[in-house]
Amino acid sequence: MHFYGGMRKIIITIDGFSSCGKSTLARELAKELNYTFIDSGAMYRAITLYFLRNHMDWSKTKNVTEALQNINLDFHLNINTGIADMHLNDENVEMLIRDMLINESVSEVAAIKEVREFAVDQQQKMGKRKGIVMDGRDIGTTVFPRAELKIFVTADPAVRVERRFKELFEKNPLITIEEVRSNLEMRDYIDSNREVSPLRKADDAVILDNSNLTKKEQLDIALNWANEKLEALV
Ligand code: DC
Repeated sequence: MHFYGGMRKIIITIDGFSSCGKSTLARELAKELNYTFIDSGAMYRAITLYFLRNHMDWSKTKNVTEALQNINLDFHLNINTGIADMHLNDENVEMLIRDMLINESVSEVAAIKEVREFAVDQQQKMGKRKGIVMDGRDIGTTVFPRAELKIFVTADPAVRVERRFKELFEKNPLITIEEVRSNLEMRDYIDSNREVSPLRKADDAVILDNSNLTKKEQLDIALNWANEKLEALV
């Protein structure tokens, strides 16, 4: 497929519920377009890891603001995988932040106003030069409200539970499907009902329901949308 747009680049946002395949789509789309992929959830996960390691009581704003001053987040390209790994204070925490312990607390931490301001500020800086695909929950609504292409990914809840279970089971064969289901339901609820930037579809976002699509099919749909936007820039 040929991509138009010349040297001009756009911002693509991908939002949706947990385990909808947002990151997979964002990563593949970025690769095809030669854009930078940014997994904004990894930032909330790394902050959660820092809070847990420091046994913090994050219900107290003072604790949160103090801790954020000591947190430095960075993405570094992993030459083996070709993907940018999350680094927390110069430590590669990419594997650690995918743990169930993080899953259990991350939505709570991501609902904190000061945490969101901290993360959104960095995310907006990463988008200054465009040419990025960022996935998350509030990217099309809050982080880049003027992004050229906004995709809202959805999938049937049963399909999402099954996908996440398979992924986690590989690392932890003791995990049950019930644990996965209840964690996903809890995260969706907190993410959609928090006061600051709740998960919702931006009015100008296009919906991509991938329940019955292969990875390749959903990538092709998204690439067509991106191509349309790029053609319009020429
Ligand atoms: O996409 P993920 O599962 O890695 O995200 C982890 C958590 O972070 C998720 O429960 C919601 C939160 N999150 C958010 O609030 N805003 C974002 N832009 C990205 C993630």
